[in-house]
Amino acid sequence: MINALTPQADRAYRFSVAPMLDCTDRHFRVLMRQISRRALLYTEMMVAQALEHSDHLDHLLNYDNIEHPLSLQVGGDNPKMLAKAARLAEAWGYDEINLNVGCPSPRAQAGNFGACLMAKPDQVARCVEAMANASNLPVTVKHRLGIDDLDSDSLLINFVDRISIAGAKRFAVHARKAWLEGLDPKQNRTIPPLQHERVNQLKQQRPQLTIEINGGLNTPKDCLQALQNCDGAMVGRAVYAHPLRWQSIDEVIYGEPPRLINASQVIKGLLPYTETHLSRGGRLWDLCRHLLQLVESVPGARSWRRDLGVKAQNSNADLSVLQKAAQQLEDAGL
Ligand SMILES: Cc1cc2nc3c(=O)[nH]c(=O)nc-3n(C[C@H](O)[C@H](O)[C@H](O)COP(=O)(O)O)c2cc1C
Repeated sequence: MINALTPQADRAYRFSVAPMLDCTDRHFRVLMRQISRRALLYTEMMVAQALEHSDHLDHLLNYDNIEHPLSLQVGGDNPKMLAKAARLAEAWGYDEINLNVGCPSPRAQAGNFGACLMAKPDQVARCVEAMANASNLPVTVKHRLGIDDLDSDSLLINFVDRISIAGAKRFAVHARKAWLEGLDPKQNRTIPPLQHERVNQLKQQRPQLTIEINGGLNTPKDCLQALQNCDGAMVGRAVYAHPLRWQSIDEVIYGEPPRLINASQVIKGLLPYTETHLSRGGRLWDLCRHLLQLVESVPGARSWRRDLGVKAQNSNADLSVLQKAAQQLEDAGL
């Protein structure tokens, strides 16, 4: 079997940035690469049906080479379509393909994918098997502790057992259940309580499986602690809201030499990429909307963000807006 992993993908899952719709697009991922070279990055979820029917696959699947190691997350319940998605992921050079079994949105439920599939382990197994047979990429699964009243430890363990036999190589477990009715996706990320201990217990009961824990990890220290019990720590909101907080990750998680970077250096590092994006007809705001959180908790942060927000949203905004924003930060020693 060909090993499709890029060299830096080796155990990259020890720290990962969770898939987040509207957040972890290619521009944010390139931003994160200024902060960590090693973290595993996930795409936003792509619906397998959209991949099947799209005439714009480049638009959906293209990424920049520096984004590796990179996992393509897909949503779907149709083994044939998911097999095609796996072939596409391989053809595009992704490092792995991840199946979303955690999204509780009404749209996902209507399409019979995401968290509602936790009630159908056999169906998920068929999907994973089809994906694993269709490409040489590792197939991984992101899921919840349970849904609605189907949330016992025995159901959880049956689920991972069934899916691992089907060929899943890793499980990213969002450490809370989801209520499919009555809570919207945002509430489903806050109201059901976090139960890290149940993910730890899963790892204890199935030490041979590779388990990433997700949910409520807020600092690199939290992640190190989580790694005492699990194989990987996955962080979503705290990375998006505070990207620079994670600059020690390569050092503390992967044992790389320390590498400190500040906000102006991050932005300067993004200038060549931004220039290419603009030259292809992209908008400055596509990138800048992710940069606002780089500056926080310092005097003048709010006005810097407001200024960049206003200027970068202008349809004619060019690279000089970003160059000036970086210079302002450098002058302030940030
Ligand atoms: C804005 C937003 C979008 C999300 N989109 C996805 C998604 O596309 N696929 C997915 O598996 N999870 C998605 N999630 C859930 C996160 O991946 C993660 O499981 C959740 O936020 C809990 O982790 P955290 O406490 O570190 O944020 C999303 C979360 C947020 C906040």
